[in-house]
Amino acid sequence: MFHRFMSYLQEIVIRAMRHYNRFDFPSDFAWGTGTSAYQVEGAWDKDGKGESIWDRFSHTPGKVKDGDTGDFACDHYYRYPDDLLLAKKLNLNSYRFSISWPRVQPDGRGEFNPKGLDFYDRVIDECLKNGITPFVTLYHWDLPQALEDIGGWGNRDVCKYFAVYAAKCVERYGDRVKFWTTFNEPWCTSFLGYENGYHAPGKKDVQLAARVAHNLLLAHGMAAIAMRTAAAKPIDVGIVLNLSITEPMNAGDANDCNLAETAWRRECGAYLDPLFRGTYPADHAAKIGDLHDDDLKVINQKLDFLGINFYSRNLVSKSEIKHPLPNSSYTDMGWEVTPWSLRTLLTRIYNEYDKPKLYVTENGASYDDTVDADGRIVDTKRLDYIRAHVKEVALTIKSGVPIHGYFAWSLMDNFEWAEGYSRRFGIVHVDFATQKRTVKDSGRWFAETANRNRVCLN
Ligand code: FCB
Repeated sequence: MFHRFMSYLQEIVIRAMRHYNRFDFPSDFAWGTGTSAYQVEGAWDKDGKGESIWDRFSHTPGKVKDGDTGDFACDHYYRYPDDLLLAKKLNLNSYRFSISWPRVQPDGRGEFNPKGLDFYDRVIDECLKNGITPFVTLYHWDLPQALEDIGGWGNRDVCKYFAVYAAKCVERYGDRVKFWTTFNEPWCTSFLGYENGYHAPGKKDVQLAARVAHNLLLAHGMAAIAMRTAAAKPIDVGIVLNLSITEPMNAGDANDCNLAETAWRRECGAYLDPLFRGTYPADHAAKIGDLHDDDLKVINQKLDFLGINFYSRNLVSKSEIKHPLPNSSYTDMGWEVTPWSLRTLLTRIYNEYDKPKLYVTENGASYDDTVDADGRIVDTKRLDYIRAHVKEVALTIKSGVPIHGYFAWSLMDNFEWAEGYSRRFGIVHVDFATQKRTVKDSGRWFAETANRNRVCLN
């Protein structure tokens, strides 16, 4: 009797604590998931689509793990109505996806492809039909191969072509799409695509990569101007950056702290300074080589929002760092799980760069999932990862730094670039042999959280 009474009491205390310790997100908080065209669409050569650098790269033996390609991917080109219905069932009010430039303009300049343009009309209309706000990215890495053939992002002319394409998209979809992102993670395009060659187009040229980074920012600025001119009604123009905060290995060590500070100023500053202040960090301009007088003015356009993609921190030390660290855990990508760093990062950007309107546009984890005998996917590690980061977003808001939305990466398992299909990031499982979608436990938790619009901070 006494025991029963005590456990009853305990239950009441736990519930009260949960209630007290819960965080309610703002009523207009964006709950979403993200995908990108090449990673999910498939239909790589259908309905007049042009070849992209990722088509060329994945078709080149040895570039992608197991020879995987995005030729079919999640077959989203044909299955988008079901996928968006699923997003609705997951209680998501927002969806971040990208337009494939070569699908709508096969050569990246000149003629547009009516069937490609129609496809995104349908995707957008389907979002709206399901009560989902579309967040459109114009460039998530699939440059038309025809433009790579004239030098790709190393050629300043490509910036002009991008601005024309961007304006066309706004003209066409701007009546229904408010939120526009020019680029997804320019650092990845520059570094992985042109410096270490791990991503398309697979170039390895340090100087070229520095020019590419600059040209991407320039293209962002030129596109922002062109998009605002083309818009029949007001649109929000933003950019999405992957900025991992650099932390010192030993917070008590002055050398380590200096290294972390320098890394922040150089690495994150290389993108944030030109975008928000119209300047480059000291010494940076020299690396670019081809900096024209007005470039920084063009880059420094008003940003209606800034999207942050976050997966892990960067760790620095004067002494060698040996991963895995004894008390840390890692995802299957080998990325250390450090949810607290997300709050540090968001707070720092907000305070140092003029209080931008911030969204977490990507966050998630790759773990190897197993499908139970009863068809269930118990992805506890991914659920814990997402929950821990959502809590950090809540704590960030609570501390006075407004965050306007959180997009889990990804709606579903998909083509993870050079890792092919070997890495699963979805909150929905995809059986690539049958294209069957199954909501994982992480997806269920996310749906419930989005629906309640709150998270428990215990
Ligand atoms: C980001 C990319 C996204 C996905 C995740 C895991 O860098 O933007 O497409 O690959 O990483």
